[in-house]
Amino acid sequence: MLTPSGVLRGKNILLTGGTAGLGTGILRAVVAHGPPSRIFLLCRSEARGQRAAATCGAEHLVTIVLVNLAVMEEVHAAASKLVEECARGETPPIDLCFLNAACLASSRLAGERVITAEHLEAMFATNYCGMYLLLRLLMPTALAPRARLIITGSDAAQMIGWRLSRDNLQGERSVGIGGLVQYAHTKLMGVMLAAELQARADEEERQGGGGVDVCVCHPGAVMSELGNNVSPWLAQTIKTLLFFVFRTPGVAATLIMRPALSTEPQRGYISDGNLGKPTNFESRPFKGSAADTEDCRWLWEETERILEAVLKHELPLLRGRSSEGGKTT
Ligand SMILES: NC(=O)c1ccc[n+]([C@@H]2O[C@H](COP(=O)([O-])OP(=O)(O)OC[C@H]3O[C@@H](n4cnc5c(N)ncnc54)[C@H](OP(=O)(O)O)[C@@H]3O)[C@@H](O)[C@H]2O)c1
Repeated sequence: MLTPSGVLRGKNILLTGGTAGLGTGILRAVVAHGPPSRIFLLCRSEARGQRAAATCGAEHLVTIVLVNLAVMEEVHAAASKLVEECARGETPPIDLCFLNAACLASSRLAGERVITAEHLEAMFATNYCGMYLLLRLLMPTALAPRARLIITGSDAAQMIGWRLSRDNLQGERSVGIGGLVQYAHTKLMGVMLAAELQARADEEERQGGGGVDVCVCHPGAVMSELGNNVSPWLAQTIKTLLFFVFRTPGVAATLIMRPALSTEPQRGYISDGNLGKPTNFESRPFKGSAADTEDCRWLWEETERILEAVLKHELPLLRGRSSEGGKTT
């Protein structure tokens, strides 16, 4: 049972991946620590969104925004609608975003790329590009000053030494068994996005913008639906044999909620992969490619190039963008 704190009372919250696993734990915690004013639940199934809202007693708080995060046209349409509603005063600016949705994707257990209709590798699209595009579009006008952005990360990035492979962004060489290597790669990209976004938002703030605080949290192993689509029997076997390693979504959500509830905004990387309840809430600096400003900037600009090609138009710029030789406002 969660102890209500009222910290999120009246806040406007956006949540991706709230229809299953950890995301439903976050949704439940958000309601318990509120009630918030509104929760924008971005999901690809109305029925699953409604079910999650009902499970968490949040029907009256949730506005379902239907969007498949793997489809950039859909992300663009959903984010643009939120931005327009915000400009008209119909939707309040968002105080707190949980960027939690992600998937494992491989058409064979041995590891075979899944490609979307927009010709993007599925985990690159879902776990990283959808979040990039969403934040890029919401950032200038639809986020409240000092909004907190909390990205669900994963220490799986350790598997690839926290290093970005510029020539393997979309798993061109390999996605690894069950897609695990590309999953780790895209989770690293999420951390790099956090680092670059923070740098750009800070620059914008120096020029009079509202500022945001970005934090990435690794919740440990979570008993969820992750990987069920790749191999249901293997996912189930692992969860059954190693049940003691996995946290329930509710317990794992306590770690993700920490930067949301803290009186001081938190930045950087919070990770607690130990067993049982999380105990280590210290945020640490980003590492590997996420600490490499050149890598982070390169990824930001390369993603922009890829998404502008998919969408066939330019993305709005972030004020104060400091890319040398790049476009500036
Ligand atoms: N499970 C772990 O051990 C673990 C460990 C570290 C980090 N994480 C991270 O925790 C986060 C939540 O994962 P989980 O373990 O709770 O997995 P999960 O139970 O599979 O939940 C994933 C969520 O993401 C949503 N989603 C997936 N693809 C989507 C798409 N294309 N468009 C919109 N929504 C989409 C799913 O929606 P649907 O209901 O429509 O499928 C679901 O709500 C992820 O970021 C994951 O990387 C998990």
